[in-house]
Amino acid sequence: MDLQCFLCWRVALLLLLMLCGFQCMSVHIINEQPVHVIPSSNLVLKARIEPGPQEEIALITWEREPETGLAPERVTLAKCPSKSKCSYKRPNVHVKVEQQEATLEIVGYSNSDSGIYAVTVTDQTGVKTTGHCIVRIYEAVHHVSVSINMSHSSLVCGEAWGTDPHFSWLHERAPVTKSVGSVSEDGTTLIVTMTPFCGHFTCMVSNKLGYSSAIYTAAPCRTEGRGTTAAVVCLVLLLLLFGGLLAFMLWRRQRRANRGVRLHEHLDDTI
Ligand SMILES: *[C@@H]1O[C@H](CO)[C@@H](O)[C@H](O)[C@H]1NC(C)=O
Repeated sequence: MDLQCFLCWRVALLLLLMLCGFQCMSVHIINEQPVHVIPSSNLVLKARIEPGPQEEIALITWEREPETGLAPERVTLAKCPSKSKCSYKRPNVHVKVEQQEATLEIVGYSNSDSGIYAVTVTDQTGVKTTGHCIVRIYEAVHHVSVSINMSHSSLVCGEAWGTDPHFSWLHERAPVTKSVGSVSEDGTTLIVTMTPFCGHFTCMVSNKLGYSSAIYTAAPCRTEGRGTTAAVVCLVLLLLLFGGLLAFMLWRRQRRANRGVRLHEHLDDTI
């Protein structure tokens, strides 16, 4: 029984291989997916085409449809029949066909170019094989916020919809060190270990298009710097007070001396 089954599988495999001899086209887009394209830069998609031994490429078609929507509408971007030149539907689309590679280029990418791209290869018998690729626009960092998790004394940084966001943390405008706390592997959480929990914590989120940040303000830190400032202010006040006192005493002495002189003069007059 087992042997029979084994034979059965082998025959099935052989049949499959034989079929493959006639039709085994493989088409796939080699870009890493999803592809994110910076606005107004160029999108380049490359597809690898491997025809079966008996197959010939008769037509290559590039199409696009929206990623979402109830009735996605398919748009043909270019058609390349093997015997004649490619025909384009849009001015900013360029296509190239080489031995086993088809390239699509879209110049000056905009949001309306986003969607699911499909490259379809038709062989001489009319059989179609398609490869797909999701293409999205590269979004800037938006709406960064920092919230506190009291129970775990940690700060959590959130970002709304930027592409490929990278998180970094600052404490009082300097990168966080081990004395402040530790950052989670994905960078979104800062576990604060410093005591007291004080000062300004900044979360900075960046990607290729720039950065955006948000600040969490805890109680102000009583640093040594502030201590010395207070001491200096006290000293200055004391000095002023002392100076004032000295001036007052001098002034009184002067007045008394003056009065003494006047008294003598008065006495001299009356005698
Ligand atoms: C605080 O963090 C812990 C651990 O990450 C989590 O389980 C908990 O739900 C968080 N609490 C709040 C209020 O977000």
